[in-house]
Order: sequence, then structure tokens, then C-alpha cells
Amino acid sequence: MKLQQTIVVVTGASSGIGAATGVALARKGAQVVLLARSAAPLQALAAEIAAAGGVAHAYPVDLTDAAAVAAVAGRVLAEVGPPDIIINNAGVGRFLAIDETAASEAVTMMAAPYFAAFYTTHAFLPAMLKRRRGMIVNITSPASRLPWPGATAYAAARWAMRGFNEALRADLFRTGLRTMLVTPGKVTSDYFANNPGSEERIPMIARISKTLTPAEVAAAIVEGIEKDRRSVVLPRLIQVFFVLHALFPRTVELLVNLTGWRRKG
Ligand SMILES: NC(=O)c1ccc[n+]([C@@H]2O[C@H](COP(=O)([O-])OP(=O)(O)OC[C@H]3O[C@@H](n4cnc5c(N)ncnc54)[C@H](OP(=O)(O)O)[C@@H]3O)[C@@H](O)[C@H]2O)c1
Repeated sequence: MKLQQTIVVVTGASSGIGAATGVALARKGAQVVLLARSAAPLQALAAEIAAAGGVAHAYPVDLTDAAAVAAVAGRVLAEVGPPDIIINNAGVGRFLAIDETAASEAVTMMAAPYFAAFYTTHAFLPAMLKRRRGMIVNITSPASRLPWPGATAYAAARWAMRGFNEALRADLFRTGLRTMLVTPGKVTSDYFANNPGSEERIPMIARISKTLTPAEVAAAIVEGIEKDRRSVVLPRLIQVFFVLHALFPRTVELLVNLTGWRRKG
């Protein structure tokens, strides 16, 4: 899909992967609609994109609030127009074992990314269906294929994103709309500062894989859209893990579990 003169909604655009994706898309000639809760970084990013010759619109919103998402989508549709592409990227969640996770925190973790992606897609889809073209891009984590110890609700929420992507693909059969799942390995965003205690729980075996920058993930997202890919997994070693896991599930799970977080006692 060509990005020139498209309208792209990017969620979680106030930092990390979402902010870098907003910049990369604008460089390709897309008009970007930036969504996240923090108004100041969203507006700063929109100004940075405009200064570089691009077009960006900042709409602060809590994407876990269905009514707020519907209201902001109404404003975007009226003020900017129907999107060609949605990038469902907003997400939170500490790596915690089930017995360490308060019920309220489990709900928060499912609310973003999963419900944020659902509400955003739900709000814009009718306008996209009318035009019979477009793409919904969903960002997830390698935990959506191969979970590691001590991150139960985090992994479940990323499986929800993968499930949403696959179910939506079926749902959108013959509508002219498609989905793409993006699965990056570890990224040098503020994610681990925003979700303390998580980084230490990445299993040793996964640490042999290269750490990505948000700009590298953004470039892969752009390329995936341009090449109409169904799935983007990066770096390549993560893809190798997935293939090995499909062939030797017990051995790969044993390696992940033996080199991951261990329950005390
Ligand atoms: N970093 C990694 O190693 C890595 C690897 C694989 C996958 N991922 C996934 O990629 C996604 C983005 O992560 P990141 O690394 O870019 O982390 P990040 O820098 O912490 O960015 C998270 C983004 O989500 C937004 N967000 C969170 N809750 C929101 C809400 N209720 N409403 C609206 N926006 C909300 C945040 O903005 P506000 O706080 O301003 O709302 C922020 O823009 C996450 O789902 C993460 O699981 C990350």
C-alpha cells in the first residue's frame, strides 16, 4: 500500500515505537493522527513533524475509555477525514507473575493494548469499510507466541493482540481491508522505565537477540505496509525462535523457562 497522501492513525504516539512510527510515516507523505494520553509530547511531536515538512495532528485521549475514543474518532473524522491505516500500538504492563498481579492491574494491562486497539478500530472501521480499502496494524510482543515466566497478564494481553489481528483478518475478508501483525523483540523505548521490574525478567536466551531502536521498528512497520505484509517479525533471530518452537516446542520452552525468572521458594 502506498503511504503518500494517506491518513494514518497512530496510537501510543507520545513516545517510543508510536512516536518513531509517526515520524517515519510522515516522511513518506502520510498525514498522521497522533493519539495518546500525554498532550505535551504529542503536541511536541506534531510540531517536530510539521517543522520537517510533514502533516500531523495531536489528539490527546485515554484509549481505554470507549466513550472518549468514540468522541475523539468523531473529531478526527470531521477535522481530518477517514483513516486509510490504523496502527494499534498503545500498550502498558509490567512483567508480573499471576500471584504478584492485583486484579485491578490485570484489568489495566488488558485495557491497553487490547481494549485500546478494539475501541480504536471499532470507532474508525465503519468509515474505512465505506471506502473499501485500508489496513489495521497491530503491535504485539514475542510473548504472544512464546511466553516467559513471571509475565502472565502481560503475555495474555499480547496474545489478545495477536488473536484480535487474526480474528479481524477473517472478519475483514473481501472488504478491501487487511491486517498486519508486528512482533518486535526488545526495543530501546521508555517501556522498561515506564513498567519497572520488567526488563530483568527477559530470559537470558532472548538476550542473544539484538535490541532494536524505535526507529528500526518504525522502518519495519513502514516497509510492511508498503509491501502489504501479513506479519512482520524482527529481528530475524526472533523469527528463528518461533520456527524452532514450532518444531521442538518442549525443548524451546525448557530453554526459555530455565533461563527466565524463577519463583522463590
Ligand atoms: N519496548 C519493547 O521492548 C517492546 C517490544 C515488543 C513490543 N512492545 C510493545 O509495543 C507497544 C509500545 O511500546 P513502547 O516500547 O513504544 O513503549 P512506551 O514508550 O512506554 O510507549 C507506550 C505508549 O502507549 C501509550 N499509552 C499507554 N496507555 C495508554 C492509554 N490508556 N491511552 C492512550 N495511550 C496510551 C503511551 O502514551 P501515554 O502514556 O501518553 O498515554 C505511550 O505513547 C507496547 O504495547 C509494547 O508492549 C514493546
